[in-house]
Amino acid sequence: MPFALSEMSYMSDAPLDRVRVLLGVSGGIAAYKAAELVRRLRDAGAEVRVAMTANATHFVGVATFQALSGNPVRTSLWDESAEAAMGHIELARWADEVLIAPASADLLARIAHGHADDLLSTLVLATTAPVSVAPAMNQQMWANPATQANIAQLRERQVRVFGPAVGNQACGETGAGRLPEAQELVAALVAARGPRPLDGLRVLVSAGPTFEDIDPVRFIGNRSSGKMGFAVAAAAVQAGASVRLISGPVALPTPAAVQRIDVRSARQMRDAVIAAAGSHDIFISAAAVGDYRPRAVATSKLKKSGKPLALELVQNPDILAEVAALPEHPFLVGFAAETDDLERYARDKLERKGLDMIAANRVGEALGFECGENALLLLWPGGREELAMADKNVLAKSLIERVAARHAAVHAKTSKA
Ligand code: C5P
Repeated sequence: MPFALSEMSYMSDAPLDRVRVLLGVSGGIAAYKAAELVRRLRDAGAEVRVAMTANATHFVGVATFQALSGNPVRTSLWDESAEAAMGHIELARWADEVLIAPASADLLARIAHGHADDLLSTLVLATTAPVSVAPAMNQQMWANPATQANIAQLRERQVRVFGPAVGNQACGETGAGRLPEAQELVAALVAARGPRPLDGLRVLVSAGPTFEDIDPVRFIGNRSSGKMGFAVAAAAVQAGASVRLISGPVALPTPAAVQRIDVRSARQMRDAVIAAAGSHDIFISAAAVGDYRPRAVATSKLKKSGKPLALELVQNPDILAEVAALPEHPFLVGFAAETDDLERYARDKLERKGLDMIAANRVGEALGFECGENALLLLWPGGREELAMADKNVLAKSLIERVAARHAAVHAKTSKA
């Protein structure tokens, strides 16, 4: 069998896929609706952690949120075991989104004034994530100029305000102050985050080295770790794409929601890439494909003979060039690892292989293949941009942003033509 599908499921189109949502629950009768909200957030793909104010625990039990979120619930700054597991600053950093639902009048007042006298207000002050609040309170409390001033101040600081909804209230009055339904809050959060740059697109990524067998125990390989390609696959998923990753032999875990196919040789990689090329919008060829393979693979282990051994090598297919030659090919992004004259060689490769973009990096001592950091020079027809030395995950994210922008530009041009 040339390659095997990993067990990871293919990308779901969950709109909050792996978004880390810190749900703050403050004291109010609407706190019971936050339990449903945890369910809906998770249905949308989010990872949820809940922080409750002390007052909220009078309305709903910690165990409810613990069970629904699948994570420990925090209620206090002074819980030593919870702090030891994940400190409050760490929790504030963990969040991609902070959503407070319900947000009571008191909680709004405290965060509007920068208080940090309990866990939730401290988290709001300590996070760099966007903060959204869903106010819920008696309609008179909502209408009170003090609450309205606090809301105006929060809006000014880019805090998003979802609701409140108008209708019958638990207190028997009617007016503005109801917590919107869970599904509406999820939709508001998704809308507030805006579209992701690769929403609805299918991205094919190749990564890692290829191994070309000499005999049953020896092979010709290279020093590619696969880190860059795997980081690119993960970044593409984060940007909203469905991602298939065709990987040579590497020791890396499959990024979440990526469909992975493992291959060994260049020819296996070629077959897997060609089979998938027609059904993908973008192909990012990050693999370090071996240029040559032994003409024949010995069926038993080669023995020492006391004489020099000549291995006859034949050239491997150029996978990227083959994809470029397909009549309907995806948007093509190649990599170029060069020891010198980086820009000239990379520009030449971009043109010769008919690519839409090339990511060039210098390789050599302490650079490129085996390390966690890299720097890239991006070239495309008529443009260039340097991405400074950074962690490969950070770099992959920047690269994906540029790929998405170029793909959109090229696509806009071709659909107008
Ligand atoms: O020509 P060079 O090997 O430097 O080109 C590098 C680019 O071409 C990379 O994107 C690499 O994944 C791809 N490539 C390929 N098949 C080969 C050799 C390189 O797809 N046999």
